[in-house]
Amino acid sequence: MKIDVILGLQWGDEGKGKIVDYLSEQYDVVARFQGGPNAGHTLHLNGHRYVLHTIPSGIFRPHIINLIGSGVVLDPVVLRRELEQLDRNGVDYRHRLLLARKAHLILPTHRWLDMASEAHKGQAKIGSTLKGIGPTYMDKTGRNGLRLGDIEQPDFRERYEMLKQKHLEILRLYPPVAFDIESAEAEWFDSLEILRKLPFVDSEYYVNDALNSGKRVLAEGAQGAMLDLDFGTYPYVTSSHTITAGVCVGLGLAPQRIGRVIGIFKAYCTRVGSGPFPTELTDALGEQLRQAGQEFGSTTGRPRRCGWLDVPQLHYTVQLTGATELCMTKLDVLGMLNEIAVATHYRYQGTQTDRLPYDLCQVDVEPVLKKYTSWKNDLKGVRSFDHLPVAARAYVEEVEALVGIPIRMVSIGPSREQLLTRVSLLA
Ligand code: GDP
Ligand code: IMO
Ligand code: MG
Repeated sequence: MKIDVILGLQWGDEGKGKIVDYLSEQYDVVARFQGGPNAGHTLHLNGHRYVLHTIPSGIFRPHIINLIGSGVVLDPVVLRRELEQLDRNGVDYRHRLLLARKAHLILPTHRWLDMASEAHKGQAKIGSTLKGIGPTYMDKTGRNGLRLGDIEQPDFRERYEMLKQKHLEILRLYPPVAFDIESAEAEWFDSLEILRKLPFVDSEYYVNDALNSGKRVLAEGAQGAMLDLDFGTYPYVTSSHTITAGVCVGLGLAPQRIGRVIGIFKAYCTRVGSGPFPTELTDALGEQLRQAGQEFGSTTGRPRRCGWLDVPQLHYTVQLTGATELCMTKLDVLGMLNEIAVATHYRYQGTQTDRLPYDLCQVDVEPVLKKYTSWKNDLKGVRSFDHLPVAARAYVEEVEALVGIPIRMVSIGPSREQLLTRVSLLA
């Protein structure tokens, strides 16, 4: 068997969680392969709203094994809170949530380093989620990190103390950040004890064995391809590989194991945090889009920046991820506006192009916009693609033609049933 992949094609928050939950019915295993508690994946089920940060979005389907893979960075305190959310709602995860021993641990000091680094950058800050993601991946690549499997080793406490001391020394070089080390540390170690009760696995063996024995595995991406460490809008990116290649390094799979790659994108664009955003609307229309789409961060609550769909950007991330099919989310939101636009090209340095420049941070690109009339209808009750208003269908078909990849699913609301599959396009 091959592993199928779901990932975001924009700057995150495309609605990946909802789509993973929906599609996971057809799978045996759902695995996160990168990122950590910077992610916020929202699911609306039976009138409840759940936000998952570290736990894969297959957890609400009782038959599914959920794996937190080795490429993930894990904060025991955040994961413990997520488990408590599941406990409160009667979701039994105990034998269905597996943790990779090779996943790196986010220490309390990593979070403070993240805060200090951002404070030090001032105006130039990344706008990170302050969850300690950057410093943890830095320790991983610097070969200083602690992994979940290390808690089973006798020298764990000693190694923790060494790393903590090192962090405290670095923190002295930064503007001061307020923290209470004793209580944070106590909570962190208590949370580790809770995690110890869950099954730990060598995830590279687990996933390869699962595929070899005919199990269907779905990889769940976090963030989006424009936040990829190498190919995103560097330095305004996250510290992991959010593209399909990240599945291989984050789960220990060879490239030929990759099957379908389902790219998720919103019918418009959003971004939270700093960095370039060519189609951003900084005017009243942007605010209207933010209110209509309820664009506020699932992890930090920050208002998301909003703008039009960006076709050159989508071309770029379709290429990087090898997306074989697309899912457009939040189409319903555009029905609340009077007019809609899509950037088909960019204009910069006197030329028109459909390629991204070397450094979007340094070049002002002007989007070339194509306008569409809005359907001005509420789509929330529509249950088949063919029953969408003509203008809404035309929008999807136009975007599909511009991007050149089939849009197999269209989401028209936050809940599971508000998803239209284009049956005519099914292989
Ligand atoms: P993720 O990080 O990619 O999983 O996305 P988030 O959960 O951070 O943000 C997506 C938001 O849009 C969540 O609040 C979802 O409940 C909501 N959502 C998902 N799909 C749709 C849709 O088709 N229409 C509307 N109106 N909301 C949606
Ligand atoms: P999901 O999985 C949207 C953004 C942050 C910041 C940059 C770096 O829910 O789509 P980090 O904390 O990773 O060092 O922040 O990346 N960011 C996200 N934006 N959705 C996310 O995840 C994000 N995770 C990180 O806002 O700009
Ligand atoms: Mg999110």
